[in-house]
Amino acid sequence: MLKMTCAKTASFKNSAVAVLVGLGGKVGAQGLLLDQKTGGAIKRALKTFSAFKGEAGQTLTLLSPVKGGPALIVLVGAGEPSKASALAYEKAGGEAYAALVKEKVGDGVGVFLIDAMKGAGVSEEEIAAHIGFGAQLRAYHFDKYHTKKKDHAAKLKTLTLVVKNEAEAKRRLAEKMKIVAGVTLARDLVSEPANALDPAAMMQAAVALKELGVEVVVLDKAQMEKLGMGALLGVAQGSEKPPFLVAMSWKGDGAAKDKRPLAFVGKGVTFDTGGLSLKPGAGMGAMKYDMAGAAAVIGTMKAFALRKAKANVVGVVGLVENMPSGHAMRPGDVVKSASGQTIEVLNTDAEGRLVLADALWYAQHQYKPRVLIDLATLTGAIKVALGESYAGLFSNDDAMALQLLAAGVETGELLWRMPLHDSFDKMLNSPIADSQNISDAPLAGSCTAAHFLKRFVNKGTPWAHLDIAGMAWQKKGASLCPAGASGFGVRLLDRFVTETSET
Ligand code: BES
Ligand code: MN
Ligand code: ZN
Repeated sequence: MLKMTCAKTASFKNSAVAVLVGLGGKVGAQGLLLDQKTGGAIKRALKTFSAFKGEAGQTLTLLSPVKGGPALIVLVGAGEPSKASALAYEKAGGEAYAALVKEKVGDGVGVFLIDAMKGAGVSEEEIAAHIGFGAQLRAYHFDKYHTKKKDHAAKLKTLTLVVKNEAEAKRRLAEKMKIVAGVTLARDLVSEPANALDPAAMMQAAVALKELGVEVVVLDKAQMEKLGMGALLGVAQGSEKPPFLVAMSWKGDGAAKDKRPLAFVGKGVTFDTGGLSLKPGAGMGAMKYDMAGAAAVIGTMKAFALRKAKANVVGVVGLVENMPSGHAMRPGDVVKSASGQTIEVLNTDAEGRLVLADALWYAQHQYKPRVLIDLATLTGAIKVALGESYAGLFSNDDAMALQLLAAGVETGELLWRMPLHDSFDKMLNSPIADSQNISDAPLAGSCTAAHFLKRFVNKGTPWAHLDIAGMAWQKKGASLCPAGASGFGVRLLDRFVTETSET
């Protein structure tokens, strides 16, 4: 974690100072003062380096010309002030962090002058919180297995946000840090290698939320057998690692009967070899992140508990490892899910949907949710369609789909709606069971996967499926996320719940 504080003033001596610049080179009051103190360095730079226009997320680093003052000045674009959204400031914060951490300056002290430019629709305290949020998300590192310390912590030890109403900014920033904590947990879980994070370890990460007031129920293999979860258990049976199903309840909106919860269901395959339908070796290592749906659900529950969300939410995760062995499921095996439906397993690598079939059943059977949303790294096909830019959204409910799309735009966790259609459903009819787990034709792989899940959603339940296979791991990284585990889904679901259930 980056150490961050808010203050009314800060010393610039030997520090790196970030200054917000609106589109067209607009600078606020604190920025103008610094410009004067540095003999007009900022204004001259804006004239000289004309590629820097103050667009949201642009940065420009200058050597400050005055001795005894700041060592570096980092100009940070905020975009057109009247149009700048929360996300624009968050991205500015993220890019500012990236620029500040590049050079080691003095004692590693960073200062961010928070000015609301003329026409801004957001208060300075809000801007401070957005910038701090973005900086902290970008500052994420997963260093625990490096035996030699990385130097980012020495390069930027602290960041002070300078803002008039320091108390209000602090309060807002502290609220945001609760969401950061949820995102960080999700990223940590996804980053962990599968030898460290098996189903039991992931179950424990969920159980740890008890400390925050989350009710946690753990089903082990015997209990799942009793419930008839032959689909999830079929996947688990090839592995030495025992499977778990975990339900986490947050009751922030009281226990009244009419307050049915929202349910989030996550795919938690801690490693996906494909099983006997073995994946090719190249790239198989990436399959440690096949539990990212479950990680997002656990991270979201943590954020809800920390910020005491005024909503009733249950998170259900199915935790298994998909391995080939003498005990493994064979292609062609028929399993029976807890819903009673039978499934012909034509491909053991289409395992996520088997895990989710039983997890979805459990969430509905046990909690009668008013909204059901699953998150899963379900198909390689969604990466082909949408790359690392959008998660696929499938839903039987137009209103909910629109709310999710909007939450995606606001948080930058983008969704693209994909189609459900009877023709996809038909492709899943099996000659010997109720369903087969893949279609015979290699067509519309993400759509048939979604339809497979839909067969386990009760009629009348508003449901959405988010295929996050392309989003959970970002090869390049972005303004709010270094390369690697993104924690995709935490900010999205948090926003969705705030806007649909807490107002
Ligand atoms: N976990 C994979 C999907 C995946 C692929 C996630 C790439 C992240 C990156 C899933 O279990 C899987 O193997 N799906 C198969 C389905 C196929 C057998 C119908 C796929 O996408 O190839
Ligand atoms: Mn698979
Ligand atoms: Zn998988």
